[in-house]
Amino acid sequence: MSCQKFFEIPACKKLLSHASVINSPEKHLKNLIKEENRLEKFSLNRAGVFYDFSRQRVDEKAMELLFELAEDRKLNEMFNDMVIGKKINVTENRAALHTATRSFSDDPVCVDGRDVMPETRKIRDDIKQFASQVHSGKIRGATDKKFKYIVVIGIGGSYLGAEFVSCALSDLADKDIKIEFLANVDIHNFGRIVSLIDPETTLWIVISKTYTTAETMANTKLAYAFMEGKGLLPSKHFVTVTSKGSPGDDPLNPVAGSFHMFDYIGGRYSVTSAVGGVPLSIYLGYERFESFLKGAEKMDIHAVKAVARENIPLTAALISVWNTSFLGYQAQAVIPYASPLSRLAPHIQQLNMESNGKSITKEGDFLDEPAGKIIFGEPGTNAQHSFFQLAHQGKAFPIDFIGVINPFYKEYQEKSKGVTNHQELWSNMLAQAMALAVGKDDDNNAKYFSGNRPSSTFLLKDLSPENIGRLLSFYEAKTVFEAFIWDINPFDQFGVELGKTNASGIRSNIAAKNENSEYAFDKTDPITRFYLDTLFAGRL
Ligand code: F6P
Repeated sequence: MSCQKFFEIPACKKLLSHASVINSPEKHLKNLIKEENRLEKFSLNRAGVFYDFSRQRVDEKAMELLFELAEDRKLNEMFNDMVIGKKINVTENRAALHTATRSFSDDPVCVDGRDVMPETRKIRDDIKQFASQVHSGKIRGATDKKFKYIVVIGIGGSYLGAEFVSCALSDLADKDIKIEFLANVDIHNFGRIVSLIDPETTLWIVISKTYTTAETMANTKLAYAFMEGKGLLPSKHFVTVTSKGSPGDDPLNPVAGSFHMFDYIGGRYSVTSAVGGVPLSIYLGYERFESFLKGAEKMDIHAVKAVARENIPLTAALISVWNTSFLGYQAQAVIPYASPLSRLAPHIQQLNMESNGKSITKEGDFLDEPAGKIIFGEPGTNAQHSFFQLAHQGKAFPIDFIGVINPFYKEYQEKSKGVTNHQELWSNMLAQAMALAVGKDDDNNAKYFSGNRPSSTFLLKDLSPENIGRLLSFYEAKTVFEAFIWDINPFDQFGVELGKTNASGIRSNIAAKNENSEYAFDKTDPITRFYLDTLFAGRL
């Protein structure tokens, strides 16, 4: 069944016409922010976070129309369908139940009439036990030494979420265990990691839902050979996290621990499953991982229960679609004023762009225009000294500023220019959002700032595991709500397949060449052939 075209929805027609009002000079942000009670009207303090959209290019009429769109798209109902296990991933006929992985409720969550919660709870218990046995030394390496390094082998959703969270919470890592991520097949990655670790005290965690991903398989093979070369029994040094029945779920290939992930959890939504659970529990301790889950659960409950106007991720998604589809912004920056969140943007890049970078509706019809947007980011203030020239005077893009009220390190109170480092950081965050919104007139064109550049500000009380969970769940829910507004399926990723298929053809040609076939490259196109010949020649 084909749905109504996006721009033909009555609310969208009204939003299109209202966009021209918002584009008028009177609705410049420098004027909008002067409205009485602007902050009170355009912010939400809920679920343990503060979300301020007072410097977005919206007025009350825009918000009213956006909430009309939310109703038309039945966003609350759709989100509820997701968390109760309906198969909303229609192209793959699957449920999307990442929310179940952090549910601590006793309620069942059924897929095809089967409650998935018992297996979810069992995995959490297994992770808890495994992590504690690694910490106590009950589980040790082949030479009976306690583990001091973990290396996660995985890529995309089997890596980015765990890397983001481990980085965000690294100040809490007190288990005397270091963590490294081997994602890229680039040999520089492997070479650097093995130069850092001590093989005898290293536990490799291979994470792959399919256990067929070329990069992960190549790196796993390399790591096995490396450990065998050191005389260390791989079965004592490797752990797998994979789907039940995948090639990696093989009883004939014994490992130190094996954990399952399920088809109802998509890779980029999987950090709260065993994918994040195993490495994070070993690195930080299971209790901290559980606190992180509980924070995510709190935001999930908010996303399910809060009415549209009080719902933070839903409101953020409406504004995001407004910016993209009605005001024409093509990109979105995520700028945390907190260095531990330095890997947030790479994670959100995959989460949002792999989910929503689509050209068809979930019913299979072409959209009026492609959905999604380009996500990028860096922590502030570094970002200010990097690409903020463009943000202020070049092509405009909306920004999510993320502020943390209380830093982890409170003991360093030295003041420079009368303020502590943390206060200096905040001065900058506040200054940037306002400068972007208001701009500055100047007779010298080079010093003219147009302003009217939108941003949101998202505040966390601190960088506790719970708050990192809230932040993660906020971005997941926001991504899903955006997809529901655009009527696309955020849970498939067919767009990554064509390149993989092409790589497989080129790989076969290279393999044939390695076997000394002189005709190996004969059928490749001339451009590809030039590069292959260059690779084999080893010079330009
Ligand atoms: O290529 C994209 C992708 O399929 C992601 O969606 C996924 O997270 C990643 O590759 C890794 O897949 P796997 O966990 O099966 O190795």
